[in-house]
Amino acid sequence: MSEMNHSLRQDGRRPPYETLLRCPICAEPFRLEGRSLICPRRHCFDLSRHGAVHLLGRPHLTKYDKRLFEARRRICLSGFYEPLSDAIVEAVAGIRPFGASPIRLLDAGCGEGYHLARIAAGLRQAVSTETIGAGVDIAKEGVALAAKAYPDMLWCVGDIAQCPFRDGRFDIVLNILSPSNYREFARMLKDGGAVVKVVPEAGYLQELREVLSVKPDSGGYSNERTIRLFASSFPLAERVRVRYTVPLKPSLLEPLIAMTPLTWGVSEASRSGALKKGLSAITVDLSILIGRKTRQRS
Ligand SMILES: C[S@@+](CC[C@H](N)C(=O)[O-])C[C@H]1O[C@@H](n2cnc3c(N)ncnc32)[C@H](O)[C@@H]1O
Ligand SMILES: [Zn+2]
Repeated sequence: MSEMNHSLRQDGRRPPYETLLRCPICAEPFRLEGRSLICPRRHCFDLSRHGAVHLLGRPHLTKYDKRLFEARRRICLSGFYEPLSDAIVEAVAGIRPFGASPIRLLDAGCGEGYHLARIAAGLRQAVSTETIGAGVDIAKEGVALAAKAYPDMLWCVGDIAQCPFRDGRFDIVLNILSPSNYREFARMLKDGGAVVKVVPEAGYLQELREVLSVKPDSGGYSNERTIRLFASSFPLAERVRVRYTVPLKPSLLEPLIAMTPLTWGVSEASRSGALKKGLSAITVDLSILIGRKTRQRS
């Protein structure tokens, strides 16, 4: 395959870089010239081999590395989070925070891209409307994996706090187990659009925490503050709790330990102890918060 074809969608079209992105330095829109995005002030960013674009001012050091995202991808592809994405599709299809086709989705903190790809495909089927997906993450290793696996979508390295996307371009902003910036989300959403935020509940991966002896938060786990903050930025249209238990194949315990920041402080001894003991089942316990951007009065 030639270099050029790597950034093309399977239907022969390229992701809509010019329609969606803006320059992270001067906020002007881009023009695509060959394989470079260039703004009117001549700031220039090249597309990678797989069509991703790096739009972060300076390199960012992160503990989210290639090994973590590969582990996350393995867990995702095992079907671990399918009930979550199914519930998101169902809730969004019920609210319909979109107007004309195509539906544009942004995943802020997209990691290796699985959730956006599955939700965009599910929504396309559920409401028989074309979808366009874009993902942004500060970790370039995640974005590289996403671009390679899902070339139909637009992937970029960028900061949620200063997103390199144009105003009012998206119907839906997904924000799954990732940090948020509600001002940026509101700026990028169309009026009437929705933010879909996924937050952990108390039972999330509890068996993993137990087998690794991860200390519980003092005073017990609560995400009420996070939910209050969300609801003060976007009137809450829906809150859906998704709780289920997944039988765990022995070969998935290692990637499960590697995929989550929950285990970052855990010693090697605890990890190998856990691998010896094994885990037969694991709980997924999450809440989906859906908030709407209210229409601006003129
Ligand atoms: C727990 S992971 C979740 C990834 C993905 N949403 C998923 O559920 O598989 C959190 C993600 O947030 C990203 N992240 C953290 N801070 C960020 C920032 N300031 N801007 C963009 N992404 C960020 C990390 O790189 C990481 O991919
Ligand atoms: Zn510029």
